Amino acid sequence: MIPLDNLERITAKMRANNAADVLDRHEKEVFMQISDDEKIKTLKNLITMPVDFTIWPMYEWFFRTRWLEAMQAVNLAAPASMLELASGSTDMLPKILGKFYYHPKTRYTTANLNKQLTAEFKEKTRYFPIKIDVLEDAAQKIENYFGNNKVDIIVFEHSFNDIVETMIADKYGIDTVNSNWWDILPRLIKLTNEAYIDGTYEVIIKDEFLQMLRSLLNILKPGSFIISHQFQYQGDLDLGIIPEIWTDLISTVRKWIKGENIGTEVFFDGFEPNYWMFIKNI
Ligand SMILES: C[S@@+](CC[C@H](N)C(=O)[O-])C[C@H]1O[C@@H](n2cnc3c(N)ncnc32)[C@H](O)[C@@H]1O
Repeated sequence: MIPLDNLERITAKMRANNAADVLDRHEKEVFMQISDDEKIKTLKNLITMPVDFTIWPMYEWFFRTRWLEAMQAVNLAAPASMLELASGSTDMLPKILGKFYYHPKTRYTTANLNKQLTAEFKEKTRYFPIKIDVLEDAAQKIENYFGNNKVDIIVFEHSFNDIVETMIADKYGIDTVNSNWWDILPRLIKLTNEAYIDGTYEVIIKDEFLQMLRSLLNILKPGSFIISHQFQYQGDLDLGIIPEIWTDLISTVRKWIKGENIGTEVFFDGFEPNYWMFIKNI
């Protein structure tokens, strides 16, 4: 597997004085108690193997650090307006925004379909210091909510795959909105595998996916970026996903957008193109 990061680079970052600033107080206490050797060993596993959530708080530290670096790479500045698609109940992006881009006018919006995960997201972010809006609608339709307002950054944190699975589920009439996401996930993975094997995968998702990206560019300020981070979760492998479906997802989308006039892809040092995609709105 191509490593998610360079071990030397991320180790140096981990030893910096302000390394733990991305963590909450309790996470920080635990992080500080882990020995340097143990941290490096965990980081090495994290970047060279399918991602396993259980290596807390190193998991939080690594992914928050990487997202902060991605925001810095595109020169995001406060006050910032961020739109995330398919966040589920994950509060990583609003957490970073609230901490490093805090400003009375900084604003975070997520578009998320599943009701239970949306409720969990609202609960987790209830006391965050920035304005948070949750749109319970599909990423494909989110442009309609923005009128003439445009955002500074659009992010997909490991959610290209969720969007693909949901498009496939829709085709088979599976309700992904009112179901327990984790209960239906094995079926979504099975259908995704079948579509991949029988060749209908691209037919079902390509046009709608590209339409979604085009529509999102309409609500992104000129010169700003759509960023996607996509990697392999061990949990998806355990449920039987054909590994290359998710490991190739960024390059599949890259192939699709080529020649489609959907922004311009920009590559940044330190962001492995297999896992990261930066699309600039020109
Ligand atoms: C497992 S959660 C996402 C977790 C998060 N991306 C992460 O890995 O950190 C999946 C969520 O994506 C949402 N989703 C999938 N396709 C979507 C779409 N087209 N628009 C909005 N939300 C979508 C689902 O409804 C569900 O709430």
